[in-house]
Amino acid sequence: MNLKIPDRLRLLIAASLLLSSAAHADDAARAQAAVTDLGTQLRSALMARVKAEGPVAAIDFCHDQAPTIAAEVAQKHGLRIGRTGLRTRKLGNAPADWQRVVLADFNSQAQAGAAPASLRFTSSEGLPEGIALRYMQGIATEAPCLACHGQTLAEPVAQAIKAHYPEDAATGFSEGQLRGAFWVEVPLASGNAQSDVADTRTAVPMSQSQQTELRAQMRKHLESLQSVLAALAASDWTAVATAANTLTPGQGRGMGQGPMHSFRSALPQDWFTYARPMHQQFGAIAAEAAGERRSDVALAALAQAAAQCTGCHANFRVVAQ
Ligand code: HEC
Ligand code: HEC
Repeated sequence: MNLKIPDRLRLLIAASLLLSSAAHADDAARAQAAVTDLGTQLRSALMARVKAEGPVAAIDFCHDQAPTIAAEVAQKHGLRIGRTGLRTRKLGNAPADWQRVVLADFNSQAQAGAAPASLRFTSSEGLPEGIALRYMQGIATEAPCLACHGQTLAEPVAQAIKAHYPEDAATGFSEGQLRGAFWVEVPLASGNAQSDVADTRTAVPMSQSQQTELRAQMRKHLESLQSVLAALAASDWTAVATAANTLTPGQGRGMGQGPMHSFRSALPQDWFTYARPMHQQFGAIAAEAAGERRSDVALAALAQAAAQCTGCHANFRVVAQ
């Protein structure tokens, strides 16, 4: 043997250090690529909407699509990703403890003159089990953001925000300020951890019986949706009204509306920002069936209702208590 033990050990250590720093560089590159992907997609989708339909419609779009876009990017890159800030519009975007610490640091750097979008944080040491790397990147407030995050908002914009986000704290920003940050957690590449970790939806803990009741309720939702569609296709307005009424607020059958649902107490506040407008849209369909019976109007309401189904599914998942 030409290598003495200490030499071999030293070589091994050197090799493993090299390997781990290569893995670190790879994880960091993946995190940055995902942030660029999410940032580009959100920005182009948002700006196109603002331009085509104005800020109020863009808020509806953001509310329904922002979580879906983030979930798709997470899935594609095999990591967890999101946006946060010291002040947030959506409760679900509020920072985790480690993110709050980084945000506070970004904020003081920005106040000391650093460009918000140039701020970076990377850590691969001392992280919780299963996480290889954490990454954050600052987000600047730019001129087009002010319509929805600025000091003074147009009245219809302020109203639309309040309707979707009663807890909104993400206004009062001025151009050039730090608006918030992207965050990423890259999972350790092992076993099935990746598929678990890539599910970034908010977990709603429920007992077994609450889960069973929720899922049964959900299958009823799908049946109602199907019945409304079939009735619309047949121009059977009596059937449209009957089917839509099964999901109309005040009919006592709306999800989470009546005291009869054992899972209601388990639901987070944010849940209702999807549930409520969904029930209202079914109400609008029932009203159309009792009124002018225009298929295009009823279909548009149905599309809006279905967007609440997919929006909520992109945001929440149920887990055992
Ligand atoms: C048309 C209105 C609108 C415009 C314009 C807009 N936003 Fe937002 N922003 C929203 C809405 C609505 C949300 C909540 C999205 C959700 O439900 O996740 C949001 C959320 C965010 C968040 C996540 C943290 C939080 O507050 O919940 C960040 C960061 C953010 N916006 C940055 C920006 C930046 C940067 C720009 C400009 C490039 C911008 N926004 C332009 C409406 C807007
Ligand atoms: C406010 C939130 C929310 C809304 C609105 C919502 N769902 Fe769900 N739905 C959920 C959650 C949470 C689950 C469980 C998903 C999980 O854990 O992966 C679920 C599950 C389901 C399931 C699977 C049921 C099973 O047996 O496992 C179906 C089907 C479904 N939803 C249909 C619908 C339809 C159709 C609509 C709209 C008409 C709708 N949902 C609206 C939250 C919602």
